Amino acid sequence: MKKKMVVIGFGFMGAVHAKNILENERLELCAIIDNRDSIFEEIEKTGNHGELGLPIDRLKKVPVYKTLEECVSKEQPDAVSICVPLFLHYELTRKALEFGLDVLLEKPFCPTPEQCDELIALAKVKGRILMVAHCVRFSPAWQFLSECIRDKRYGELKLLNASRMSGEPAWGAWQDEKIKKTCGGSLFDLLIHDIDFVISCFGKPEGIELNLNVDEYWEFELKYHEQLAKVSIKGGFLHRHTTFTSEYVATFDKGSVRYSSLQPEFIYTGTDAGSEIIEVKGDGYANELDYFAGCIEAHKPPIKCLPEEARTAIDICRKIKVLCPET
Ligand SMILES: NC(=O)c1ccc[n+]([C@@H]2O[C@H](COP(=O)([O-])OP(=O)(O)OC[C@H]3O[C@@H](n4cnc5c(N)ncnc54)[C@H](O)[C@@H]3O)[C@@H](O)[C@H]2O)c1
Repeated sequence: MKKKMVVIGFGFMGAVHAKNILENERLELCAIIDNRDSIFEEIEKTGNHGELGLPIDRLKKVPVYKTLEECVSKEQPDAVSICVPLFLHYELTRKALEFGLDVLLEKPFCPTPEQCDELIALAKVKGRILMVAHCVRFSPAWQFLSECIRDKRYGELKLLNASRMSGEPAWGAWQDEKIKKTCGGSLFDLLIHDIDFVISCFGKPEGIELNLNVDEYWEFELKYHEQLAKVSIKGGFLHRHTTFTSEYVATFDKGSVRYSSLQPEFIYTGTDAGSEIIEVKGDGYANELDYFAGCIEAHKPPIKCLPEEARTAIDICRKIKVLCPET
């Protein structure tokens, strides 16, 4: 039987998750929760990936509620996908776990490591699945890189340079100055994707070196044991309508791998013997959701994307902020 899933917060990410739930054969979108009166206005204009291509007619048939309490009593869901601004992550996740629901929570986990710890512990007590939606782990271009690092097809990784930039989001919560201040800026909202990817490959770094910070632009190194690769991350928010890019350059002993979301269909590799263009297929958000569906179906912890690692990513963002106290 399909698992009944609810999307909480029908903004940019909520719409993406709702669409993917409708298209996933293991899941049923049994409800949407949002505190606005009208949730379909403006929805196609949100996000930094262009048109969302939402199946609006099908979405309009899904029951909409204003609160989790009302939704739970009417729909008896199995799981929720929480897609609200960061300042609501802790409270809504706690509530959903208390109701005995499995939770897919959009990144970033919670503003403080203590809140993250509390939710991890609560999920264990309640015997529920808690996964923080770090989609880059499920994005095919990044999965390719992760496989290259693990199987050493080009030898040992020597250098990873990841970069992510965009205009500050121009939609939803970001239009409200008060809420915007609680979103954590580009470190917690954007660069945390690359930080989390690096954690998924190498674990918690031994140190952090901040090399540059101008407004919401950052350049820093995550330091690992000297025999491991050098890892540098850069990027952040530029002017509001600047094009989104996510890129990496990875140099191994015997080859290099390059990717840019400006050409999302291809990964470019090169060795001293020649070059190859590898086609990228699949969608990270859909893969991520399907992985979560498998975890709740089998009632198995999300070992490919553990909340403890999402908590480490929060810790690193906070440490970088401390290195630059005036921000
Ligand atoms: N994985 C990614 O690539 C990615 C991209 C963008 C955003 N995000 C994350 O997704 C989350 C949401 O971001 P967004 O861009 O979709 O925001 P958004 O502002 O577009 O949407 C938030 C929605 O939550 C609703 N909401 C607010 N308070 C609520 C409440 N109490 N109950 C129910 N609904 C409520 C709002 O009405 C709005 O529709 C954030 O954590 C953000 O960091 C992830």
